[in-house]
Amino acid sequence: MGDALEKVLVTEEQIRTRHREMAAEIDADYAGRDLLLVGVLKGAVMVMADLARELHHPCAMDWMAVSSYGAGTNSSGVVRILKDLDTDIQNRNVLIVEDVIDSGLTLSWLVGNLRSRGPASVEICTMVRKPLALDVDLEVRYVGFDLPNEFIIGYGLDYAEKYRNLPFIGTLAPHMYS
Ligand code: PRP
Repeated sequence: MGDALEKVLVTEEQIRTRHREMAAEIDADYAGRDLLLVGVLKGAVMVMADLARELHHPCAMDWMAVSSYGAGTNSSGVVRILKDLDTDIQNRNVLIVEDVIDSGLTLSWLVGNLRSRGPASVEICTMVRKPLALDVDLEVRYVGFDLPNEFIIGYGLDYAEKYRNLPFIGTLAPHMYS
């Protein structure tokens, strides 16, 4: 890790506890109903793997990969599908699983895209929500942690594709990107 980490924001234990709480809510909300978890690659791999294992619901899983056209690290809201679902989601209850919602533009687009396929429902679960996402008309049913607008890494979140494998969420030291 070297000196890339500035501080830990959410510990491994806090993440595990929050997963258990969210999984209990999801189990209750979808009791007796079909459930398809849709993970958004690559960041959501950790959340999907850990959250799904806390669920008692016999859910299915599928994956999408999307890329936002935009300058640098900013989302533009114009999204390209790099890998689509293998599943026909007509009449299915879809729960999108994300690592982070920042501007909210990717998820706004994705929800619209999935809704156009005729699912029974589309909801969102994210481990982290940043403040900008609150300004967008986007209903997020399950939120792990509302965090400040800092450069965060770990638990699926990367800087130049590194640090996704940290078991906690922390802030990147400013000297890494300034
Ligand atoms: C992240 C995250 C969301 C998106 C959110 O993915 O997983 O898909 O950015 O940003 P927004 O709310 O500003 O639109 P990223 O493009 O970093 O790809 P990755 O998951 O492969 O790291």
